[in-house]
Amino acid sequence: MHIDILTLFPQMFDSPFGASIFKRAIDSKLVSVSLHNIRDHTHDKHRTVDDYAYGGGAGMILKPEPIFEAVAAIKATIKEGAEKLPVILLTPQGRRFCQEVAGELAGYSRLVLICGRYEGVDERVRQHLATDEISIGDYVLSGGELAAMVVVDAVVRLLPGVLGSAASAADDSHTSGLLEYPQYTRPPLYKGWSVPAVLLSGDHARIAKWRHEQAIQRTRQRRPELLEKIDLP
Ligand code: ADE
Repeated sequence: MHIDILTLFPQMFDSPFGASIFKRAIDSKLVSVSLHNIRDHTHDKHRTVDDYAYGGGAGMILKPEPIFEAVAAIKATIKEGAEKLPVILLTPQGRRFCQEVAGELAGYSRLVLICGRYEGVDERVRQHLATDEISIGDYVLSGGELAAMVVVDAVVRLLPGVLGSAASAADDSHTSGLLEYPQYTRPPLYKGWSVPAVLLSGDHARIAKWRHEQAIQRTRQRRPELLEKIDLP
């Protein structure tokens, strides 16, 4: 998968993309990322990316031209299917990001993410450039950068080969619609707290049953609304 990210702060991405699973995914060429500074697509002396809102009001609005030009420059490098390229604006007004949306985005071979900033983005970007708008939750961040990192992280770990074992993504909280069951590692007894005996039994069928029951119980306690969305056997 190739991901193009349009931002005014490309340096914000250095550290999350330079570590751990993501770095391995890049090193093994399962994913590649191009960071595009929106300011590089301005043409005036001051490299202006924002302006006052028509009609008044506090705060500056990101101008449409540099964003349209940055996306056009990306599309110009694509030989086939540029018209179908998903162009996603990160904004608190978007559809809510969740595991299902992550799975949907993981199905694309290429994504463009636009990080909004300041008080907003010119409406024409939404209407005539973005093909999708995503919010990572009902709160307002200072910009779309952290949201883009969240989306990229959740999507990349679903790509085949990125996680060590294919099973680890399948067992994640939310993949099945349930929260994950409790996990333990050695030692079997720590400060008097023991690992449930069933996990030490070696009986895989009993362990699977216990984990499923625990996942349901945990979901019922913490996120009962999730149970309404799934068919339990
Ligand atoms: N930009 C600012 N807040 C955001 C949010 N909650 N989700 C996505 N992008 C944002």
